[in-house]
Amino acid sequence: MHIYEIDTPAIVIDVDVLEKNIKDMANHCQNLGIDLRGHTKSHKNPEIAKMQIEAGSKGVVCQKLGDAENMAQAGIEDILLTYNIVGKYKLRRLCKLARLTSITVTVDSLAVAQGISDQASEDGVIIGVLIEIDTGGNRTGVQSPTAAENLAKQVSNLPGLRLKGLMTYPSLISAKPVIDEAVERFINSGLSLEIISGGGTGAESVSKALGFTEHRSGSYVYEGLSRINGRGDGTDLSPQRCPLRVVTTVVSVPTRSRVIVDAGMKTFRMFPDMPYGYIIEDTNLRFDGMSVEHGQINSKNSENSYQVGDKLTIIPTYQEGVTNLHDKIFWMRNDHVERVFKNIGRGKVQ
Ligand SMILES: Cc1ncc(COP(=O)(O)O)c(C=O)c1O
Repeated sequence: MHIYEIDTPAIVIDVDVLEKNIKDMANHCQNLGIDLRGHTKSHKNPEIAKMQIEAGSKGVVCQKLGDAENMAQAGIEDILLTYNIVGKYKLRRLCKLARLTSITVTVDSLAVAQGISDQASEDGVIIGVLIEIDTGGNRTGVQSPTAAENLAKQVSNLPGLRLKGLMTYPSLISAKPVIDEAVERFINSGLSLEIISGGGTGAESVSKALGFTEHRSGSYVYEGLSRINGRGDGTDLSPQRCPLRVVTTVVSVPTRSRVIVDAGMKTFRMFPDMPYGYIIEDTNLRFDGMSVEHGQINSKNSENSYQVGDKLTIIPTYQEGVTNLHDKIFWMRNDHVERVFKNIGRGKVQ
């Protein structure tokens, strides 16, 4: 079936591009001599996670417990969960997951570590732990090498936990003094540094320069128009590197310069700002407005005229926000549908 025959709006993935992106990143990390741990947050699909592993990724990383559960149920064996797990419902689920697969979590406070330790002890499981240190991301993470050392010592003494090392996000070269001090403190105190984990697509060589053992990249799978001028690491990106597209249908042509498609914020999300996407069939069209269920396309520079029922295929600006909004995902090669997936990662925000 041609992708124009699918009911719209619909996500299609160009599998040839997907495979290339996955292979290129695996080769890049192999050439650098650093382990790649593929992030699953952009695709939330165990099938793609398995492709990442097959290409050379060391296990996977998930941001949400619900995604980790999907990955474990699909047989994935080494999962890092880079999120503070808080609250009895999640703690029980985490310990249940530990019976199914090897799971490591990040923590940045004794409160979080204590909660995991209590539940793990009650359930008789061991959870791997990395201490998260904030090295400029200004999100989670302990605020100094001393705090990382102190928390690591506390984690080492808590039952049900096994300290494995350090984690930070994103990998920034400016963090070198902080990382060097934290590593020195861990070594001097005899604390485990089996894993030092950095992250962020495009920063693989930074993680290598910081002496990390592994690098977590995720966006490379779908890439994204928001980075089409390159990622800052010399990678030359183009729309052809973006496998995720949305097929839409023209539902109205109110004026010569305005075409309306059946996809707005609920299909694409609003982040980041305009322009909202790249239109494959006609690069002179500009997707320059969106309401909840309508997409406004400016056709004033196009030589083509559009009619109700025409199809337009759009590469969204922010690919990964789109995956969480659709029930089905179509895999295609040469514009023909190969497989249809139920999007099991959809809505897994807990
Ligand atoms: C903790 C963590 N690690 C790794 C990544 C992967 O970053 P990227 O999507 O740039 O590859 C992210 C992205 O949000 C993240 O939050």
